[in-house]
Amino acid sequence: MGSIYGEDLAYIQAAGFGKMARGAAPEIVRRLSRNLSGTTEPVATEHFEVSPFSEGRSGPVPLSVNPRTTERRGGVNESADDAAASCARKGAPIPTRRVVDVGCGAGPLAAELLAAGFEVTGIDSSADLLAIARSAAPPADYIFGSLYEVELPACEAIVALGEALTYHDEGADADALVERFFRKAAAVLPEGGMMIFDVIEIGEPSLRGRNWSSGDDWAVMAEIMEDQDARALMRRIETFRKAGELYRRGSETHRVRLFDSAALVERLETLGFAVETGRAYGAWQLGPRRRAFFCRRV
Ligand SMILES: C[S@@+](CC[C@H](N)C(=O)[O-])C[C@H]1O[C@@H](n2cnc3c(N)ncnc32)[C@H](O)[C@@H]1O
Repeated sequence: MGSIYGEDLAYIQAAGFGKMARGAAPEIVRRLSRNLSGTTEPVATEHFEVSPFSEGRSGPVPLSVNPRTTERRGGVNESADDAAASCARKGAPIPTRRVVDVGCGAGPLAAELLAAGFEVTGIDSSADLLAIARSAAPPADYIFGSLYEVELPACEAIVALGEALTYHDEGADADALVERFFRKAAAVLPEGGMMIFDVIEIGEPSLRGRNWSSGDDWAVMAEIMEDQDARALMRRIETFRKAGELYRRGSETHRVRLFDSAALVERLETLGFAVETGRAYGAWQLGPRRRAFFCRRV
């Protein structure tokens, strides 16, 4: 994986774009605490930008759960005896101790997971973001490297927020890389372990356009292009960061895979996951064409 999120974009990401992870955290903690997918879903009430340089901002979209949902086992009122019995069943929920935060970025989710009592390992391919995460959420372990290459540590849950699974180099076989990651996840997770991530879907509305954001000492502008036939989205990003009296200018290009969610669900089921999907993390409404996947190893 080539170098993305260099020093200035890492700074901007940390300063301006942690809202999604912090907004999604309560639902992720809720699910991992129970390690049950398919329990009563809070209705999304808020809508925020879903990712840095988020494309095609829109108003609230009703929560929807994929009709292919397979998880309905284990209720919120499950008694201790029932829970013990259900643990004996194949793929039943298990207690979560360690969570691997894949593409952890500046560590906003890692901090929330630590505060909720989980052990956390963050993985990221940006040394600059990892340095920020290390100081923002120091008790976590961190691994520098590409999620496609590194060995996943033993854990009961894997999370990858903000389309972290889908970045790839130009010309790379993104589907093969993502498939390899899912196989690794399926191998490392015990039965009942959870994997939670989000992607951008193919479809409408178009995400093409330009947007910008700024803070006291930074600004970022992005042009978004997509080729749905190639299931590819590209962001050309220009950064400006205050350095003394002047602003330093930088640029990055990010390539992101787009997904057919029904095909992805099928693939995950083949790899041994029960899958539920939605357009929100609890009260945190995802942006247009984003979908969250809540998967349990069975
Ligand atoms: C949009 S940011 C989301 C960061 C964080 N998950 C959050 O929600 O705040 C995407 C993150 O994925 C990381 N990333 C992208 N491709 C990666 C790869 N192949 N291996 C590891 N990290 C990757 C980036 O460095 C970046 O931190």
